[in-house]
Amino acid sequence: MKNSTWSGRFKKGLDEDVLEFSESISIDHLLFDCDIKVCIAHAEMLSDCKIISKKESRSLVKGLNAVQKKYNSGKLSLSIKYEDVHMNIEQALTKEVGELGKKIHMGRSRNDLVATDFRLYLREFSDLMIHKLRDIRHSLALASYNNAEVIFPGYTHLQLAQPITFGHHLLAWHDMLARDEQRMEQTKDRLNILPLGSAALSGTPYNINRKIVAKKLGFKSVSTNSMDAVSDRDFVCDFAYTCSMTMMHLSRISEELVYWMNTHIKLVDIDEAFCTGSSIMPQKKNPDVPELIRGKSASVIGSLSSLFLLLKGLPLTYNRDLQEDKSILLNSLDTVTACLNLMPRLISTMKVNKDRALALSKEDFSNATDLADYLSMKGVPFRTSHEIVGSIVQYAESKKINLNEMSLDKFKKFSSKIGKDVYDAIDIEKSIRSKKAIGSTSPANVKKQAKKILTSMKLYGYV
Ligand code: ARG
Repeated sequence: MKNSTWSGRFKKGLDEDVLEFSESISIDHLLFDCDIKVCIAHAEMLSDCKIISKKESRSLVKGLNAVQKKYNSGKLSLSIKYEDVHMNIEQALTKEVGELGKKIHMGRSRNDLVATDFRLYLREFSDLMIHKLRDIRHSLALASYNNAEVIFPGYTHLQLAQPITFGHHLLAWHDMLARDEQRMEQTKDRLNILPLGSAALSGTPYNINRKIVAKKLGFKSVSTNSMDAVSDRDFVCDFAYTCSMTMMHLSRISEELVYWMNTHIKLVDIDEAFCTGSSIMPQKKNPDVPELIRGKSASVIGSLSSLFLLLKGLPLTYNRDLQEDKSILLNSLDTVTACLNLMPRLISTMKVNKDRALALSKEDFSNATDLADYLSMKGVPFRTSHEIVGSIVQYAESKKINLNEMSLDKFKKFSSKIGKDVYDAIDIEKSIRSKKAIGSTSPANVKKQAKKILTSMKLYGYV
C-alpha cells in the first residue's frame, strides 16, 4: 500500500503487516482536537506572515473546522492507511478543500507537530486532574471538619503511638493531595512551551512567526533549539512522575483503609457500594476498591520507568521510538482518572467507628508521652522525664493497670514533681485539646484548618 504523504521516493508500497505494526492512529486519535487547533493556528500564522494568502488561510481554517465537525458527528473515520492523526487530518483537509490542503505542512513537520499536540493535550488534561484533585480535597476537608472531635489511634511503625483526631488524619491525606495539585500546576507550567516551527530538526527557511502561534494556542514561550524541541520528552516524564506521585498517595491512603477495615481492627467501615462479597464465603465484605486503587498504582508508577527506558538510549533528534511515549502515558492517564473519580465518594461515605477508635486510642500507654511532657513542663529535662516515665510504664505494665489508674502517692515515688494535676495531663481528651501549635491535632486546629480549606474552595466556586 502506497502512502500518499511520503511515498514519492518509494517503488513498493508498505507491507501490510508493517503498516499495522507502525500505525499510531489507534492511540493518537486522542490528539485529534489538539491537532486541529494547532493546524488552525498554523494556517492563520502562515497568512499573517504572508507565506500564503488571507483567502487561502480562511479556506484552510474553514476546512479544518469542517473536518472537526465531521469527526465529532462520526462522519469522518480515521484510517491506519494514513498512519497517524496528523496525516489523517491532512488527508481529510485535502478532501475538504482540494489541493490547497497540501499547503498546511509548510514550515512544519510531524516531528514538531506531534510534540506540540501532545503538550497541548497534556496541558488540557492537567486542568482536569487539578479539578479532580480539588474534588477529593474538598471531600477530605469536609470529612475532617465533621470528624474533628473524633479521637482515633495514631501509629508509628504501625504500633499505637499517640491518640490523634480522625479529622487530623484526614487532613494529612488532604495535604498529600494538595502537593499533588501544586505539582500538577507546576508540571503544566513547565510543559507550556511551543515546539512548532522547529520543523523536522533544523528549523525552517519560511519566514514564520512562532510567537504568533504560541500566543494563539496559549503557550507561554517558544522553544529555543529546534533539535531539542523535536526530541525532548521531558514533559512526558514530568507528567508521568506527577501522576505516579498521586497514585502513590492514593495507594497509601488505600492501604490505610484496607487496614482499618481489617476484621480485627474495624476502625472504619467502607460503604457497601465500594466493597464486594466472596463467591464462596457468604459472610465476606471485602474492601476491593481501595485494594484495586493500590493495585492499579503499579502500572502508573511503572509507566515512569518505561518512559525512562524508552528515552535513555535515543540520540538526537526524532526517532520513531518516540511514538511509543503516547501509549505509555495515555493508558496510565485513564487509570489515574478512574481512581481519582472514585475517591470523593469513597471518602464521603465511609464511617468511622467512634467507640472502637476511642477504646483503641487508650491502649498500650498511648498517654506516656503526655506524662513525659508534663514532667518537662515542671522543669525536668525531657531526656530525664523520658526515663522516669519509662520506669512508670514498666511498673504499670507489671501491675496490669493504666497510667491514670495509678495513685498520686505511687506517682510521687517516681518523681516528687508529679502533682494531682497529672490526671488532667494524661487524660486523652484533654491532652488532644492541648495540642494547639500550628499543625497539631487539637479539634480546634482541625476545624480551623478544614474551614480554611473549604473557604478557599468556595472562593474558587467550590462548595
Ligand atoms: N506518529 C508519529 C509519532 O507519534 C508522528 C511523527 C512521525 N514522524 C516521522 N518522522 N515519522 O511520533
